[in-house]
Amino acid sequence: MGGVIVIFGGAGGIGEATARAVTAKGYRAHLVGRNEARLAAAAGSIAGATYSVADVTDSGAITQAVAAAAEQGGGALAGLCYAAGTITLKPVARISEADVLNDFRINALGAFQAVQAALPALKAYEGTASIVLFSTVAVQQGFTAHASIAMAKGAVEGLTLSLAAELAPKIRVNCIAPSLTRTELAAPLLGNETMVNAIGGMHALQRLGEADDVAPLAALLLSDEAGWITGQSIGVDGGRARLRTKG
Ligand SMILES: NC(=O)c1ccc[n+]([C@@H]2O[C@H](COP(=O)([O-])OP(=O)(O)OC[C@H]3O[C@@H](n4cnc5c(N)ncnc54)[C@H](OP(=O)(O)O)[C@@H]3O)[C@@H](O)[C@H]2O)c1
Repeated sequence: MGGVIVIFGGAGGIGEATARAVTAKGYRAHLVGRNEARLAAAAGSIAGATYSVADVTDSGAITQAVAAAAEQGGGALAGLCYAAGTITLKPVARISEADVLNDFRINALGAFQAVQAALPALKAYEGTASIVLFSTVAVQQGFTAHASIAMAKGAVEGLTLSLAAELAPKIRVNCIAPSLTRTELAAPLLGNETMVNAIGGMHALQRLGEADDVAPLAALLLSDEAGWITGQSIGVDGGRARLRTKG
């Protein structure tokens, strides 16, 4: 059916791969992030893509970015993908209030405010619009040092369910929960090949994720092909959340 999809974190690893994947399905992507040079480079390499500079800790900037995206779609948005995020991994004793609030703001509150800002344009879309949010494997599987991010992403899964109920049948809402995926976000955890192989080996499928492992599902959920899927949190995690193949 086509239309414009606004992608927060759209110049990031998974966000940009999702922008390419929805474009291949006939949509136009509007990318949102803080780094204008990176947004311009990403948008310039994706047919029909546009962008807005916005920090998701600023609700006014979110509103402006969504308005710019909706303008591209003649007042309507086919979808919203919220792929901005953080990883703060610290033992619980070293996590500060500022860490918790920062993780919550960027991962959960920003998603909530982006949805709120986009609601009129999503409702104005002629078909069923779609929202895709991002959680993490660390919500279903307990890991050390993940308290802050697991709390924030747990909130995203709750938000997904609430919105899916409240916005049905006009808007579908789903969430993707990746395990460690090789993007800039994960780079500090993957300093050398030994780390990459060790963490990859903890997955049933024996490797880390790539942005292009995750983006096809995001694009599917954003498109009409997923027209009867809503209220789901789906793991793209090499089996990490549910499978144990050793010991
Ligand atoms: N990679 C993983 O291992 C992994 C695992 C589980 C969940 N996830 C989730 O998957 C989603 C996509 O992550 P990714 O791996 O693609 O990360 P990424 O490559 O770092 O991309 C995230 C993007 O979010 C944007 N962003 C961060 N803070 C922002 C802010 N305050 N305002 C506006 N934009 C902001 C960044 O763009 P700018 O710098 O231009 O602002 C960045 O391009 C995130 O929600 C993440 O939490 C990732």
